[in-house]
Amino acid sequence: MAKITTSAQSSGAPFHVACIMDGNGRWAQMRGRPRLVGHHMGAKRVREIVQRCPDAGVTHLTLFAFSTENWKRTQTEVAGLMRLFRRYIINEAKGLKNAGVRVRFIGDRIRLEDSLVKMMDDLEMLTADNSSVHLTIALNYGGRDEVTRAARRLAYEIEQGELTHKDVDAETLARFLDTRFLPDPDLVIRTSGEARISNFLLWQSAYAEYEFIDTLWPDFSADEFQRIVESYGSRERRFGGVTA
Ligand code: FPP
Repeated sequence: MAKITTSAQSSGAPFHVACIMDGNGRWAQMRGRPRLVGHHMGAKRVREIVQRCPDAGVTHLTLFAFSTENWKRTQTEVAGLMRLFRRYIINEAKGLKNAGVRVRFIGDRIRLEDSLVKMMDDLEMLTADNSSVHLTIALNYGGRDEVTRAARRLAYEIEQGELTHKDVDAETLARFLDTRFLPDPDLVIRTSGEARISNFLLWQSAYAEYEFIDTLWPDFSADEFQRIVESYGSRERRFGGVTA
């Protein structure tokens, strides 16, 4: 991956785009190929889109790679996806490091193989000093699961006497979420024509804009990504208030 430049980040303010990368399976099936071929094409798009972030003015990119519900897929598909995540880490680590991308993972690591978790930890460490783009990959992630785990940790702190029930407010709860290091998403894009949130960043997207597009993820180009992000700039967000 080429060195990422930050010329288009004019305001310097964080701008967070989250993507539900849908349509890989259909893309492959339409071509008479196994679903995993679609996932492999999808991984190529990830590379191009990460690379485009600075020019699109995106400082934070969060990608939904594997949900807590995706374990219900066939063993072949799940195993293939896990192999793909390993391959992505092996192939991209150096390029991401050199391009200034900081990578972090969200989701429950408990069900992932130890060797994969180790690769994820290593990539996080390798890129820890980077800051041109903050790439967050959601792996075995579910919004309800995340909030449940946060509530459990919060309850534990109360049990231990570290906090009291009076400390529980939105800000405190957010500190227990996997995303505690992230600003809330400004824009959530879902590809493949489905208009659902599918348990993705439920808490964090309370005020996000949504863009549901028909393009299947393997066809989703960096140019289309940039166009959508730029069109977001002309929308007005009121966060529940009124305009002056
Ligand atoms: C949903 O499409 C997609 C997934 C469950 C996997 C997403 C994974 C990638 C794009 C590959 C690599 C990602 C990274 C971060 C390395 P689907 O299979 O449900 O599509 P369908 O609705 O057409 O069946």
